[in-house]
Amino acid sequence: MIYLDANATTPLLPEVLDAMLPWLREGFHNPSASYGGAKEARRAIGEAREKVAALVGADPDEIVFTGGGTESTNMALKWLARLVGRKTGKVVTSAIEHSSVLRPIETFADVGYPVARAGVDGGGRLRMEEFQAACEAAREGGGFTSVMWANNETGVIQPVAEACAIAKECGLAFHTDAIQAVGKIPVNVRELPVDFLSLSAHKFHGPKGVGVLYIRSGCRFEPMVRGGGQEQDRRSGTENTAGIVGLGKAAELALARLAAKEHPGAVRAAFEAKVVGEVEGVTVNGDLLHRLPGTSHLSFGGCEAAGLLILLDDLGVACSAGSACMTGKQQPSHVQKAMGFSDAKAKSSLRFGFSCLTTMDEALAAAEAVKKAVAKLRRVQGGSTGPVVVYSA
Ligand SMILES: Cc1ncc(COP(=O)(O)O)c(C=O)c1O
Repeated sequence: MIYLDANATTPLLPEVLDAMLPWLREGFHNPSASYGGAKEARRAIGEAREKVAALVGADPDEIVFTGGGTESTNMALKWLARLVGRKTGKVVTSAIEHSSVLRPIETFADVGYPVARAGVDGGGRLRMEEFQAACEAAREGGGFTSVMWANNETGVIQPVAEACAIAKECGLAFHTDAIQAVGKIPVNVRELPVDFLSLSAHKFHGPKGVGVLYIRSGCRFEPMVRGGGQEQDRRSGTENTAGIVGLGKAAELALARLAAKEHPGAVRAAFEAKVVGEVEGVTVNGDLLHRLPGTSHLSFGGCEAAGLLILLDDLGVACSAGSACMTGKQQPSHVQKAMGFSDAKAKSSLRFGFSCLTTMDEALAAAEAVKKAVAKLRRVQGGSTGPVVVYSA
C-alpha cells in the first residue's frame, strides 16, 4: 500500500516507537508519585517538554500536554469564550477552520456570541480585509480570534502573522490551530506573538491522542479539565508518559528535518508533474505559493472522487477525498464551498498527503495508479475529460 494520506495521520517513526516502549513497560509509574520510578517518568516528561518547546520557540513552562489536537483547540476556545463573556465578546474566525474549531465556535453562536467567519479567496487564503473589518467591529466590546496556520484539506498556509497583528492591534486574543503546520514548516512563537497555539503529535510522526496547548506566559488561563492539578493545574489527569515521550522524540526529529530543509516538496512536485502531464483535465487547487510541502489537492474533471478512491484503493494507493472527516459524504466540504468550488469540481477532488517517509518511487507509482484509475473511471462513466490543465491561483 502506498500511503498518501499524511494530513489525516502519519506513521510513527521507528525512533519514536523505540523512545516510547520503555515507558509502556517498566516505566509505568505514576509521574506524580514520590519513588524513583515516578521521578524518572517526571524527568522524561520534562525532557519531552523541552523538545516540544524548542520546536516552536517556546519556554517549556508554556507547553501544556493534552489528549490531542482537538482537546487543545477546545481548551483554548472554551476558556477564551468564558473570559470575554457573551454579552459583548465577539468571536472572529475563518470560514475554513477544522471541525475541532468550527464546532466549539458553533456552540458559542448557539448561546448568543456574535461570530464572524472571514472568507477566503479562490486559492484558499484568508481575505484579510474581511478579517480586519470583523476585528475592528470587535474592538469596542472585546473578543477573541482563531485562525488556522495551514488548512488540512488544501494545505494552504494562512497569513497568520498579519492576522495576529490585526487581532492584537484591536485588543483581541489570538489562537491558532497549527496542527497541520507544526513539524512540517517553521512555526515560532518568539517571532509571532500568538497567545494560544494548538499542535498534535500524530501529524508529524508522533503517537495519536497526545498534543499540546501552548499558552503564552502572562496570558490568563483557566482549565477545562480539572482534577489532580497536573500540568501546573492547566490540564489535570495522570500524564500519558509514553505518549508525551513519543511527542518529544517526534518534535526533536522534526526540528532536525526543518534545520536540514528536508521535506516532501520534491516528491510531491514529481507526483504532480506526472499527474498533470499525463492526465487530461487536472486542476491543482490552492494557492501554489503558500502550500504545505506535502499536500496536493487535485480535481479530476468529469470524475467522481468517490469512484476514484475505490479504484485507487484497489490499485494500492491510500488517499482521501477532502478532509478525512468528510470521507463518505457527498456534499462539498465547507472549505471547498468557501473557495468557490462548483459542486462538480468539489465532487471530483482528491487530497494526497506526502510525508518524509514517502519515497520518489512511491510518488511516481501512485501517479501511474491515478492515471489508470482516471482512465478507467472515464471509460466507465463515458464522461468528458475536461479540455485543458488549469492551475487555480
Ligand atoms: C487542522 C486540524 N485541526 C485539528 C485537528 C484535530 O487533531 P487531533 O486529531 O489530534 O484531535 C486536525 C486533525 O485532523 C487538523 O488537521
